Formats: sequence, C-alpha cells, structure tokens
Amino acid sequence: MPRKFVVGGNWKMNGDKNMINEIINNMKKGPLDKEVEVIIGVPSIYLTYVKSIVPDTIQVAAQNCWKVPKGAFTGEISPAMLKDIGVNWVIIGHSERRTIFHEDDTLVAEKVAHALESGMKVIACIGETLEEREAGKTEEVVFRQTQALVPAIGDKWANVVLAYEPVWAIGTGKTASPQQAQDVHASLRNWLANNVSAQVADAVRIQYGGSVTAANAVELASCADIDGFLVGGASLKPEFVNIVNATK
Ligand code: G3P
Repeated sequence: MPRKFVVGGNWKMNGDKNMINEIINNMKKGPLDKEVEVIIGVPSIYLTYVKSIVPDTIQVAAQNCWKVPKGAFTGEISPAMLKDIGVNWVIIGHSERRTIFHEDDTLVAEKVAHALESGMKVIACIGETLEEREAGKTEEVVFRQTQALVPAIGDKWANVVLAYEPVWAIGTGKTASPQQAQDVHASLRNWLANNVSAQVADAVRIQYGGSVTAANAVELASCADIDGFLVGGASLKPEFVNIVNATK
C-alpha cells in the first residue's frame, strides 16, 4: 500500500521568535507539496507560539516528553500538557536524548508507551553510532532498539513513524548514501514483517535522518523504503521547502 511521505523538521535547541517567523513565513510561501505530511519539531518554550502562527497543514511536534501525566518531575513536560495546547506529535528517543541525556531503550519505550496511551502520535528515533557501524553491528543495534519499542507500541503502530538516524550522519554533513540508508530501511521493514506483522511492516513509515539537504533529498526519496525525512539543520533554512517537495 502507498505510504504517505512524511517530512519532519527537528529544530533542536535553535531559534528565537524572529527566526521562527522567518521559517514559518518561508514554509507558508512554499509552496509545499500537499501530498506530503509535514511535522515541525519545536523547542517546548515556543510550542504555543508556533501553534498560533502555523497553518493547519503543518503539524507541530514536541522534541521530547516525560513518561507520566503529572508530578514531581521538575523541568519535564507531559503528553497531557502537549495535548492541552493542541500539540499531537512528539519526537522520542532522538540520539541526542540517548547519548547526551542518557536515555536508554527502556526509558525511550516507557515514554513512547505513555505518549501513545495519551493519544499522541510519535516519531520514534533509532540509529547506530559510527563505532557500531564499523563493528558491523548496525542491524543488531537498530533491531534491538526497535524490539524495545514493540511492546510499548502494541496495537498503535498507526500512530508511529520510525526515524532511522545513523548517529554518525547527524549534524556531520556525512549523509548516509542512498544505498546505505535503503539497506537499513529495507532490513528494518523485513524485521518488522518477521517480528510484528506483514501489515505493520508494509504500513509503517520509516524516515531517514542525518544531514539531509535539498541536494541529496531527491535521490534519497527515490529509495523504495525511505518514506520521509527527519531533518535537523536544513529545517531551519529555506531549503526545507525543497526537501519537503523532494518527491514532486
Ligand atoms: O532529528 C534530525 C537530526 O538528528 C538530523 O540532523 O542536522 O544532520 O539534519 P541533521
């Protein structure tokens, strides 16, 4: 079955109101391919502001959330709070959360489970480090990370997008080659068919993330098992429109 192309922009800890206005105005001017689902991952502090200026055609995501509805968790935000301000998407398990903030597979799974139970849609991130790839452990790592998510997702795969982001390609300018990315995406889809179901494997969208730019997006988008992108640095630039339109 055809999978709707989905492009996420992960602003990370970047932007101020002036820059946000420029980014959103650029996206409004577009024109953005109406056949592509666009989701922008916004720093928590600006979520309400972006929601107030962004057209309904663009989804807004938080970049993280905690694993319970409320309580003594200073500094955290919950899916309930996100839903309360009309934010329905959340990015969970980004490699920067895993490496810098020491989020392991168990915590990522707990966050995914609670976000889905709360009615959120989730971009769940996986990906290997350079040393893991060089040790030939890419599949072992992404399968392990995905296996940890299976019980957390349960029957809510329709509300999940997987983002394969090789850590060695994030922010480095070293994009995975289309063949490298396609190989992992195809292998992951095959793993899903064997370990979850053929229906989930066929339907789930798998984004590629890691130094995606307007220059490489079209070739990457032509790969059969790449269903979109999770874009960091380039999502802050006018070329993000070209990346969204990569399948046009
Ligand atoms: O979540 C997307 C991000 O990790 C990719 O960053 O700057 O390599 O596109 P970048």
